[in-house]
Amino acid sequence: MPALRPLTLGPYQVWPPVVLAPMAGITNVGFRRLCREQGGGIYVCEMITTRALVERNPKTLRMITFGDDEKPRSLQLYGTDPEITAAAVRIVVERNLADHIDLNFGCPVPKVTRRGGGAALPWRRRLFARLVRAAVDAASPAGVPVTVKMRKGIDDDHLTYVEAGLAAQEAGVAAVALHGRTAAQRYSGTADWDAIATLKQALDVPVLGNGDIWEADDALRMVAHTGVDGVVVGRGCLGRPWLFADLEAAFNGRPERRLPSLGEVAVTMRRHAELLVDQFVAGARNPARGERDGCTDFRKHVAWYLKGFPVGGELRRSLAMIESLAQLDDLLGKLDPSEPFPVTALGQPRGRTNSPGKVSLPDGWLASRDDDTVPEGAEMDDSGG
Ligand SMILES: Cc1cc2nc3c(=O)[nH]c(=O)nc-3n(C[C@H](O)[C@H](O)[C@H](O)COP(=O)(O)O)c2cc1C
Repeated sequence: MPALRPLTLGPYQVWPPVVLAPMAGITNVGFRRLCREQGGGIYVCEMITTRALVERNPKTLRMITFGDDEKPRSLQLYGTDPEITAAAVRIVVERNLADHIDLNFGCPVPKVTRRGGGAALPWRRRLFARLVRAAVDAASPAGVPVTVKMRKGIDDDHLTYVEAGLAAQEAGVAAVALHGRTAAQRYSGTADWDAIATLKQALDVPVLGNGDIWEADDALRMVAHTGVDGVVVGRGCLGRPWLFADLEAAFNGRPERRLPSLGEVAVTMRRHAELLVDQFVAGARNPARGERDGCTDFRKHVAWYLKGFPVGGELRRSLAMIESLAQLDDLLGKLDPSEPFPVTALGQPRGRTNSPGKVSLPDGWLASRDDDTVPEGAEMDDSGG
């Protein structure tokens, strides 16, 4: 087992070396607070597109909200154009919107890769290097560290992670995170931790490992297997924010792990919904609408919280349709609080587990690695998609 040390991210020392993965539609300010209440680490905001930021899109600007006590404030940007990315980073720096910027090169969604963005982009190695350098150059005068998050490559025949990791290091990033899947795998199969170990061997900057950490002990196993400097946890914490308490315990060498009863899960669900309502009320012109929007945002989390618990279909459905906190309280009151945590749900995948597929790419993309033309239409103008 390598020595467990705090993760160094530019000027920040992070203990435990745990990162909440950016997840669009999930890791908003309310969810991040819920997770931060459990343990230490870095908690990354939902993805923000550089174009939307540069255009001062009001919804995007609202998404860049951090708690007073969030340090470092971590923001993920998606961009494909070095100039727009640099402009977006300058806005972040000048307006003091965040303390850390992560760049997204992992998105496998067809609407993104079809235009050469996300996980397709590192294949165009000169464009990738230019883009990362543009972000680092714009952020470094303010001492804001930039990291990249990427996949192994487009598919098994078009791997890019070692070359891209070296290029990002050369461009001056503070760390590189690798999700051990190709874009073609999407969320299927298992993450390749050997690839994460290979990247760790190849780089001098800190490497963060990502993929299939379902339990705190998986994080320790990943560190032991790969030697990474930190772990990035995504789907494992869906409906289980207490995973961050387990991770902190695990990295501190303590054996305890949380197995909340259904009553304790209900308290966490209520807290989560309340934080989302607070967030939406703060951003809304009409507070009543804020409560409804917060409750609507909470609905997607219900099935994750209840996974494995014996709760009837009708009650589940009603919980997934709530419009107010009063309605939520009423329905949560119908759960049996003494129901023990379903240990069969431990160590199991949750959230997206879709099947592999061919990656949609722009015409001629694979044939021209050194073309650094900015791809047409790949700068999305809506955030969090
Ligand atoms: C709902 C959802 C939304 C996601 N959104 C983003 C995103 O905006 N940016 C990003 O880099 N990765 C995104 N991801 C990928 C995760 O950050 C992470 O890399 C992936 O889920 C693998 O980690 P895991 O096995 O711990 O879930 C998303 C994943 C999910 C499930």
